[in-house]
Amino acid sequence: MNVVFLGATRGMGRALARLMAARGDRLFLLGRDRMELERSARDLELTGSGGTIAVARCDLLEPGGFTPALDQAEAALGGIDAVVVTAGLFATQEGLESDARLRADVLTADFTNTVQFCEAARSRLMARAGGTLCVFSSVAGDRARKPVILYGAAKAGLSHYLEGLDHKYRAQGLRVVCVKPGFVKTGMTAGLTPPPFAGEPDAVARTVLRAIDRGRPVVYAPPIWRWVMLVIRYLPRAVMRRIGF
Ligand SMILES: NC(=O)c1ccc[n+]([C@@H]2O[C@H](COP(=O)([O-])OP(=O)(O)OC[C@H]3O[C@@H](n4cnc5c(N)ncnc54)[C@H](OP(=O)(O)O)[C@@H]3O)[C@@H](O)[C@H]2O)c1
Repeated sequence: MNVVFLGATRGMGRALARLMAARGDRLFLLGRDRMELERSARDLELTGSGGTIAVARCDLLEPGGFTPALDQAEAALGGIDAVVVTAGLFATQEGLESDARLRADVLTADFTNTVQFCEAARSRLMARAGGTLCVFSSVAGDRARKPVILYGAAKAGLSHYLEGLDHKYRAQGLRVVCVKPGFVKTGMTAGLTPPPFAGEPDAVARTVLRAIDRGRPVVYAPPIWRWVMLVIRYLPRAVMRRIGF
C-alpha cells in the first residue's frame, strides 16, 4: 500500500509508521520539521522493506503548503492508496484560556487545517476511485469535559466531519477511519498524570492498523475507551458540572 503520512515523527504516528514500514507499505512522510522528517525516514527504512522513504515539508499551520506537499507525495509514490494524519497539537485548558495565540493555533491546526488537508487528500483518493483516509481525532470530542473544552471542541468538529465523509463517500470507495485515542503515553501527554486505562503507542498502533485493514469507520484506542466514553456520554449535565474529569 502507498501511504502518505502526516505526523510520523513522534508518538502514535511513529509507532504506526513503523508497523506499516515493517510489513512493506511504501511511505511518504510529511511534517513541519525537515530534520525530524529525515531522521524518521532513515529510521523507518531500517525497519522496513519498502525501500527509500522520501519526505516533504507540510505544516498544519501553513495550509498553502498542503497541495504542493501532496503533489510531491503522489509523484514520488506513483499513486496514493492511503493518507494517514496523526499530526495534531494539544495544550491544557488553562493554557488555551489564557493564551489567545496558542488557542488560535490549536483550534486551527486540529480542526480547520486538518479538514483542509483532508479535503485535498480526499479529492486525490477519489480521483483514483477511493482509498483510505485515516485521521486521529480524540475521545475528547465525544463529550464536552472541563479539562478539554477547547481541544475537545476542535476534535468534536473533526470527528463530525469524518463521519460525514464516511456517510457521503463510502459507496464511492473512500474508507474513512476516525481514530479516537483515549489517554496515551506520548510526548503530548508528558507531564500529565495518566488516568486509569492509559495506553501505550505501540498497542494503539496495532489496533489502528487492524482498523485500517478492515476499513472500520471509528476506532477507540485503547479499545476500552469505547465503553468509558459510552458511560461519560450519558452522564447527566448536573453530574458533568460537579465532576472535574
Ligand atoms: N496522546 C494522547 O493521549 C492523545 C489522546 C487523544 C488524541 N490524541 C491525538 O492523537 C494524535 C497523535 O498524538 P500523539 O500523542 O502521538 O502526539 P505527539 O507525540 O505530540 O506527536 C504529534 C505529531 O504531530 C506533529 N505536529 C505537531 N504540530 C504540527 C504541525 N503544525 N504541522 C505538522 N505536524 C505537526 C508532530 O511533529 P513534530 O515532530 O514536528 O513535532 C508529531 O509528529 C494527535 O492528533 C492528538 O491530538 C492524542
